[in-house]
Amino acid sequence: MANLEVKDLVKSYNGKTKVLKDISFTIKNGDLVSILGPSGCGKTTTLRIIAGLISATEGQILVNDKDVGKVPVYKRNFGMVFQSYALFPHMTVFNNVAFGLKMKKLSKNEIQKKVNQILKITGLSELSSRYPKELSGGQQQRVSLARSLVVNPQLLLMDEPLSNLDAKLRTKMRSEIRDLQKKLKMTVLFVTHDQRECFAISDKVLIMKDGRIDQYDTPENIFHHPSSEYVARFIGYDNFIKVDEIVNDHQIISNTNIFVTDEDNIHAKVLTIRPENILINPEENKPNNLIDGTITSLEYLGQSFKYKVSTSLGTFTVEEARKSMRSSGDKVQLYLPSKHLHPLSR
Ligand SMILES: Nc1ncnc2c1ncn2[C@@H]1O[C@H](COP(=O)(O)OP(=O)(O)OP(=O)(O)O)[C@@H](O)[C@H]1O
Ligand SMILES: [Mg+2]
Repeated sequence: MANLEVKDLVKSYNGKTKVLKDISFTIKNGDLVSILGPSGCGKTTTLRIIAGLISATEGQILVNDKDVGKVPVYKRNFGMVFQSYALFPHMTVFNNVAFGLKMKKLSKNEIQKKVNQILKITGLSELSSRYPKELSGGQQQRVSLARSLVVNPQLLLMDEPLSNLDAKLRTKMRSEIRDLQKKLKMTVLFVTHDQRECFAISDKVLIMKDGRIDQYDTPENIFHHPSSEYVARFIGYDNFIKVDEIVNDHQIISNTNIFVTDEDNIHAKVLTIRPENILINPEENKPNNLIDGTITSLEYLGQSFKYKVSTSLGTFTVEEARKSMRSSGDKVQLYLPSKHLHPLSR
């Protein structure tokens, strides 16, 4: 297994606009890292450069401290699962999966054992003698996954490997990938634009925006301390409060006293809070952090209700788990608990 270091990566196509602008990060041996970001931000490009399928304009890829820039793709011993599956059309599922092991000249018995084990894990045992054209998109995706896992690669690169699976299979497969990754202590770089998916399985998450890294941290830290409004919005924060003036241990925001707990918060320019952390009409008396407002719209979410509440600080989105729904036009008081107000520096 390996650790990976990506250093000062820049990529421009045909000398034109830079699609990657100074990407640097490391992945610890045995960690699973997800790259999360919207379409076109440079996720696939980053992965393809690491794999050696395209070259970087500037920068280095180090595996266990060795520059692999000049090492050809087939010698890198990286597993790859891409958006397109690239299966061999003339080979059965079994032979597609066995291919890498045959290249390594393993014995027939060993190949049989390893392939069957991985086919079982990926739910393909029944389909082992089919050809790719006789499979659905999701099944082909699983063959591609099985083929890359079976050789026990030093680094596994996955570009949206679950995008063609239905929701149930997707959840099952992602926990299979995570279990397998832990069991085999594999280093994995996983590209997705599904926030839930990457938070569920990653040791660290790398959030990209326009060819740059916006934040690289554990899911917990990103969830509780998003570094920018971009990241915050990406992971479900919906309320952004501009700070007007700072007085000692609290913030004055348009003449409303909002107290904060964290030292960092006192220097914040913007505060953010999740919709489910705002309380409507708190039962206990609260001395501060209260704002008067009016409900302007509502939405039923199944387990809870989502309201838009218009206040002197702007419109807040609030989620409340409650048996009965409030009504549009209701006058309410919002309570913003200090401990849930997070500072944003950007
Ligand atoms: N061969 C190419 N020539 C010119 N521009 C390219 C080429 N390949 C990719 N790009 C551009 O580079 C940018 C990043 O593309 P990339 O495929 O890395 O995005 P992505 O984050 O993987 O998006 P998606 O989520 O849609 O897969 C895009 O603006 C894309 O148009
Ligand atoms: Mg892509």
